[in-house]
Amino acid sequence: MSPAMLVADDDERCYDETAESQYQKGVKLLCENGLHRVPKKYILPASERPSSTNTGDPNVTNRQNLQLPIIDFADLLGPKRSQVLNSLAEACQLYGFFQLVNHGIQEDVTRKMIEVSGRFFNLAFEERAKYMTPDIRAPVRYGTSFSQTRDTVFCWRDFLKLQCHPLPDFLPHWPASPVDLREVASTYAQETKHLFLALMEAILESLGIVEASQEETEKKEILKDFKDGSQIMVANYYPPCPEPDLTLGMPPHSDYGFLTLLLQDDVEGLQIHHQQHWLTVDPMPNAFVVNVGDHLEIYSNGKYKSVLHRVLVNGVKSRRSVASLHSLPFNCVVRPSPKVIDEMNPKRYKDTDFGSFLEYISTKVPKRKDFLESRKLTN
Ligand code: OGA
Ligand code: NI
Repeated sequence: MSPAMLVADDDERCYDETAESQYQKGVKLLCENGLHRVPKKYILPASERPSSTNTGDPNVTNRQNLQLPIIDFADLLGPKRSQVLNSLAEACQLYGFFQLVNHGIQEDVTRKMIEVSGRFFNLAFEERAKYMTPDIRAPVRYGTSFSQTRDTVFCWRDFLKLQCHPLPDFLPHWPASPVDLREVASTYAQETKHLFLALMEAILESLGIVEASQEETEKKEILKDFKDGSQIMVANYYPPCPEPDLTLGMPPHSDYGFLTLLLQDDVEGLQIHHQQHWLTVDPMPNAFVVNVGDHLEIYSNGKYKSVLHRVLVNGVKSRRSVASLHSLPFNCVVRPSPKVIDEMNPKRYKDTDFGSFLEYISTKVPKRKDFLESRKLTN
């Protein structure tokens, strides 16, 4: 029996070592080989499945949709700035998420980015496999699941991670195929970086760390670290799944950085954990879903919250998304800003460097927000 037949077996959910090596190659390949049932490797315990409410309340469903707060970026740059800053602060406190509209990045740029990442996953497996590596610091990494070397149950997701900053260092390592990937992805990376910086300035202002009346040179100095900061883009691909209720595209997690700018196609799947419920985010055309990451939670001393989110898969359509994760340079220490700490608001988080985060994720199975929990000061 060929390995492909083994994993595709309809009558019995086979599991053996041959299949195991197949799983490492990704769900796209698995689906290409024909699949009518979800292999055991992807089946979550009942309590972790998408339909599980975990609330004990039978009236609570997990299929509710959520309209996230909407932030109009054009208004943020105009006379309504202070009003929008209030909405921004509220969104970051209550949801940890918002939809960013009128962001100024041309539709052509975002559409091409989603398209080219989709075409990457449509390449022959051998082409994608060139970028398979266990090295989490590699400039390019193709992989599957969430934490491939640690997950016992795999997620229904393949990904391509691209390190983006400084671009000239990394661009030559990015995939040469599809032929337009480097051009499209580098334009997209630069434009999202620019947008991140403008958003970050607004966030600093909303936290009272930067003031509108402050000298431009002072503002520039505060923003400099963000300008030099790390940027990683993750293109996600979630193939249709024959039994979507048994598995997840991504498990509950928070993002590590300051902000994540997420571009998704028109297929729903992203859920956020809000007031004890999993709520599905309605995709909005031409908008970015922006979320607070762990580093911003630390920096704001807990005022802004990084919120758990996960991804559902579906039986019909594949889904594509591109997440752009932004933080300080890898060698910088993230700590609560002195401007948000006083006697009433003592420091709540330990200083955190990127190295200890990487060490943490490579020694533990990342679960929920436990990295952030480990950074909390208890007294
Ligand atoms: C992520 C993420 C959500 C999605 O890449 O961290 O949460 O909808 N992605 O793909
Ligand atoms: Ni995420």
